[in-house]
Amino acid sequence: MELFWQAVVHARATLMEMKDGVGPEPTADVRSLERLKAAAEELLSKAAVAKSRAELFPEEGKITRDEILSRKWTWDELERAVKGCKKCKHLVCYRTQVVFGTGNREARLMFVGEAPGADEDRLGEPFVGKAGELLTKMIQAMGLRREEVYIGNVLKCRPDMPPGESGNRKPRIEEMRECLPWLVAQIRLVRPEVMVALGATAAEGLLGRNEPMKELRGRWFEFEGIPVVVTYHPAYLLRNPSLQEKRKVWEDLLAVMERMKMPISQKQRDYFLPKKD
Ligand code: URA
Repeated sequence: MELFWQAVVHARATLMEMKDGVGPEPTADVRSLERLKAAAEELLSKAAVAKSRAELFPEEGKITRDEILSRKWTWDELERAVKGCKKCKHLVCYRTQVVFGTGNREARLMFVGEAPGADEDRLGEPFVGKAGELLTKMIQAMGLRREEVYIGNVLKCRPDMPPGESGNRKPRIEEMRECLPWLVAQIRLVRPEVMVALGATAAEGLLGRNEPMKELRGRWFEFEGIPVVVTYHPAYLLRNPSLQEKRKVWEDLLAVMERMKMPISQKQRDYFLPKKD
């Protein structure tokens, strides 16, 4: 039924757009009708997948926040439950798959992003697109391998986009609140020594702090007794690739390395500093 209303909402938005463009009488043009057709096809195929999932696992996905937080999970149980989650109907309809998390389940260091994008939704792993490539380089610059750390997101499903629109959107605070207990269960299993929140949205989802990056950086927060540092999201660095911005992120990661008593070479200390002549 939600899918029906979603289709109605999209159809209405498209008709309003046509109306604005052409005058008081809604008149379809080829482009807008093609968009409407694509939207209907997309929704119908997602409805078929959602229906078959619901038939296969009728009881899954009904779990409450308190049940998630009070239960003592094993990794297998948790992964199965997260992958069967149906708490946010609009995301269940939209996602290709749930993006659970990846890496070392006994990691000393855990990175937390905001939500899967299109690449992650397609491949089922966090941070596998362009931003993910940069995150992997950041991890390697610390002297670690990607497989040595744990990487997860506050939201486990890709935030939905209007039909026919590509790109990714930021998760909403209500979506992150609904999904956070799953991340909490993951954090409790990993028990990392330090966590890094990637970007202000991830920081808001994880720590509940709605503050600009300049207030969040350079401080230590705590989540269930685990020290947390906030730094820029790698996507920010892709948009602002100056030495100065890279150095800021690197200084945040140096602080993490120091806190974890990791070895730091002089070469590492000097990464992204302006060259002396
Ligand atoms: N951005 C995120 O915050 N998480 C991902 O998994 C990918 C991009």
